[in-house]
Amino acid sequence: MKIRTSLLLFSILATWVLSIAGEKLTDMRPCNFPAIYNFGDSNSDTGGISAAFYPTISPCGETFFHRPVGRGCDGRLMIDLIANHLGLPYLSAYLDSIGANFRHGANFATGGATIRRQNESVFLNGVSPFPIDIQVVQFTQFRKRTSWLYKQAKKRSERRNLPRPQDFSKALYTFDIGQNDLAVGFRTMSNKRFKKEIRDIINQFAKAVRDLYKQGARTFWIHNTGPIGCLAVTLRDPDHWKPGYYGCVESQNDMAKEFNRRLKRKVSKLREKLPLAAITYVDLYTAKYKLINNAKKEGFLDKAKICCGYHEDKVHVWCGNKAKINGTKIYAGSCEDPSLYISWDGVHYTEAANHWVVNHFINGSLSYPHVPITRACHRL
Ligand SMILES: *[C@@H]1O[C@H](CO)[C@@H](O)[C@H](O)[C@H]1NC(C)=O
Ligand SMILES: *[C@@H]1O[C@H](CO)[C@@H](O)[C@H](O)[C@H]1NC(C)=O
Ligand SMILES: *[C@@H]1O[C@H](CO)[C@@H](O)[C@H](O)[C@H]1NC(C)=O
Repeated sequence: MKIRTSLLLFSILATWVLSIAGEKLTDMRPCNFPAIYNFGDSNSDTGGISAAFYPTISPCGETFFHRPVGRGCDGRLMIDLIANHLGLPYLSAYLDSIGANFRHGANFATGGATIRRQNESVFLNGVSPFPIDIQVVQFTQFRKRTSWLYKQAKKRSERRNLPRPQDFSKALYTFDIGQNDLAVGFRTMSNKRFKKEIRDIINQFAKAVRDLYKQGARTFWIHNTGPIGCLAVTLRDPDHWKPGYYGCVESQNDMAKEFNRRLKRKVSKLREKLPLAAITYVDLYTAKYKLINNAKKEGFLDKAKICCGYHEDKVHVWCGNKAKINGTKIYAGSCEDPSLYISWDGVHYTEAANHWVVNHFINGSLSYPHVPITRACHRL
């Protein structure tokens, strides 16, 4: 008798718990984002810097697109895989005047972009002239001009490549930026000074989010920065080798972690200050670090292997370029099977690695709050 009652009680309790979970799930409908607007650097540049300066060259693009398509990768970037996952087409770069279609969003990311404006240039250090504040300015112009054109258009065919003005507030706004601010910092400042500067860098990041919010953006998906001290070129740099140690440069990773700690804190503040915004912080650092440091277990070759380019000691011939080394002409081509490599060109990840990382965060297990990307519009 006693056992029966407690069983009954248990089953009532279980039903109750299940119904709460069920209610939560039905509350959290998929958002059906009609568009993506992306801001960032080469990790998510789908052709911006390539359109503005020099086009990317072969063998970039060889795995998936079978030709260079403005991405520093053999195939698709994370932003491409995100678009796929959401049932949207690959994003055209805002700066690309050829064959672009902006119906489902636009990409303002450019390779070499920073959060803070830099006193450097693409010619000097590869720093993009389009930092995040300029990317937001470009977005503002994009929104205003496309909305005007959309209203002017007389025929449906004239509107086909333009975003629907009502979609801007329903779109997903994604960010992947910060890695180049770290790289510039390492190059130009002491660690002590740089640590102090991170606060300002994060404040400028937050300003970009607020500026977009003021224009009606509501759903933000913000990637943190990866373990920069584990990039394959860094792993192979003899300056960082110590006897018995052939691993990530943890002093650089510490700065990335400091950046991420402050970013995460700032995102919670923004969540309080922007009452209509759903803002998700996504811990890519953890995913990338895990992949790189378990390369073999995850089905990849050694973490320091680079698929494309020539990288020995201090000599770098970047992916797809030619050079003369000790009197011998070489072509810095790619490996036979990029899917076995984490690093495409020493700095950027292969499509296979991008797939691995996306699969680890898309379901929300590395998000704060824990929300899958398809439901990121809900304010939790
Ligand atoms: C760029 O130069 C200006 C003027 O010298 C200076 O105020 C600013 O802090 C510099 N910015 C960076 C990121 O170094
Ligand atoms: C070029 O040759 C020198 C002398 O033989 C050698 O020390 C050096 O490692 C070579 N450099 C490369 C990149 O192979
Ligand atoms: C999310 O996906 C990762 C990788 O497949 C998996 O390890 C994790 O358990 C998943 N988390 C949830 C909450 O489904």
